[in-house]
Amino acid sequence: MGERRPLIAGNWKMYKTPAEAAETARQLVERVTGVNDVDIMIAPTFAALEAVSRAIQGSPVALGAQNLFWEDEGAYTGEISAPMLKSVGCEYGIIGHSERRQYFGETDETVNKKIQAAIQVGLKPVFCVGETENEREDEQTLSVLDKQVKKGLEGLVLDQLDMLIIAYEPVWAIGTGKTATDDQAQEVHQFIRSLIKENFGNALSDSIRILYGGSVKPGNIAALMSMPDIDGALVGGASLDAESFSKIVKYK
Ligand code: PGA
Repeated sequence: MGERRPLIAGNWKMYKTPAEAAETARQLVERVTGVNDVDIMIAPTFAALEAVSRAIQGSPVALGAQNLFWEDEGAYTGEISAPMLKSVGCEYGIIGHSERRQYFGETDETVNKKIQAAIQVGLKPVFCVGETENEREDEQTLSVLDKQVKKGLEGLVLDQLDMLIIAYEPVWAIGTGKTATDDQAQEVHQFIRSLIKENFGNALSDSIRILYGGSVKPGNIAALMSMPDIDGALVGGASLDAESFSKIVKYK
């Protein structure tokens, strides 16, 4: 297995004004200065990107967006493009988060277009997949993930995918306090890695980072990270506070 550098990412969702976001970012920078064995990313709202970008300058913390549109520009009221996100300092873009799929009509097809648009400009896609509680109860977990991963990556070729990151987020574990057990998460991560191997070969399946998301906290990160196919975390609630997020970053 290749060496995969962990990525701990914070999804701030629709929380914090630009001033609040910049303040939390500064507190985070103070706490993670010197961390050099983990990649760190925070994704504030669009309105706070610039302020946070300034606050993390020169630090190990990188900037991410929570969503993007697939056209570069045009008459698409309310949308923001991958080149625009790059221009304010984003290095990552979260794509296909379950809240986007659930409340904003995102489909595997739109997710696919967004992944292509991000890669085109060198924005690292954090491609989110995950099953709902009903799907898990119906034993559909692996088939749902198979479909999401295959459709999300349709038409992409191997040499476009070296910047791709996948986040497995069981919908029933997001914001609920219910974390998948380490073994449940490992089973799915291993399955996703096997799908990548089947479709894109060994080298990518060894190198691709697969994050776990869903009620990650300082108290459960170490056990999750001890699983062989878990390469990091996408953290919602516990990333909003610099102290708890820095503890997750420093899980070792
Ligand atoms: P949570 O959110 O950590 O609050 O469960 C995770 C996410 O939605 O990315």
